[in-house]
Amino acid sequence: MKFSLRTAAGCAALAALCATAAADVTAPDIPVASYKKAAEADLKFVQTRAAEVAKVSASGEKVKDGQYKPAIGAALLLTAYADALGDATLKADALKVAEALQKKDFKAAGDAAAKLALKPGTGKLGPLAKPFKDGVQLEVLMQPYRVTIGGGMGIEKDIRDAIKKENPAKLEPAAVEILAVRTAVLNAYSFHVPNEKATIKADSKKLWEKYSTESVGLAKDLAVEAAKGAKADEKKMRTLLSGIDGRCKECHNKFRDDE
Ligand code: HEC
Repeated sequence: MKFSLRTAAGCAALAALCATAAADVTAPDIPVASYKKAAEADLKFVQTRAAEVAKVSASGEKVKDGQYKPAIGAALLLTAYADALGDATLKADALKVAEALQKKDFKAAGDAAAKLALKPGTGKLGPLAKPFKDGVQLEVLMQPYRVTIGGGMGIEKDIRDAIKKENPAKLEPAAVEILAVRTAVLNAYSFHVPNEKATIKADSKKLWEKYSTESVGLAKDLAVEAAKGAKADEKKMRTLLSGIDGRCKECHNKFRDDE
């Protein structure tokens, strides 16, 4: 908590120092109202997915990766939002859903997800949940970025559509706000789980942390701008989205095997 306060206060002025301070940050310091909107959206995402896969699995069909893995990442998002919103029950229940899905216990996941509810109290950012081994944790955290036809939340495509040179997509501040919260929290999480390539040398780990930290910072700024609604500065939002996209690409070029 101490760290996150210090980071919030000093980041703008001391960007370089913040790269290391942010290592201990819990969930990013984003206005609670934005967390609440993201929580409503992601609670629905997790509930819908968990109900679907419970049904598919009960019918004896095989559940595909894209049908359930993005929901694990989304459930981890919910546990982080739950801290910001002061909702310990949501945190515990979302964690149960994530764990049941990862075990492919789809019935348990469906049952646990059906109970998810949002009852905000007094928020206090807590440590990010780490239920899985590093590799699994990173894999499920990158899943919500996938295209919606692949089962993801389409975050990557939305970012790219927004910053295309030709006919960029129109920006809906309410949607951008949620995208920004998700992106900030996903990258705050992945900060802690560098993959193998990024842990070989101390230098590569630092670079991993730099890309993660910068993505979190830009996404936080984006959430704040988008939260202004009709008054949000469109040019500023596109610049921030472009900066985020740059960090995703840099990290992938450097550390992702399949690109
Ligand atoms: C700090 C490094 C890093 C950053 C920043 C990062 N990624 Fe990734 N991403 C990875 C790695 C590594 C993988 C491969 C994960 C694996 O091996 O399972 C990955 C995988 C992915 C995948 C593939 C998921 C799948 O299994 O189909 C998508 C999509 C993705 N990232 C989108 C994004 C987007 C969008 C951003 C920026 C908003 C982003 N990533 C930021 C490191 C990063």
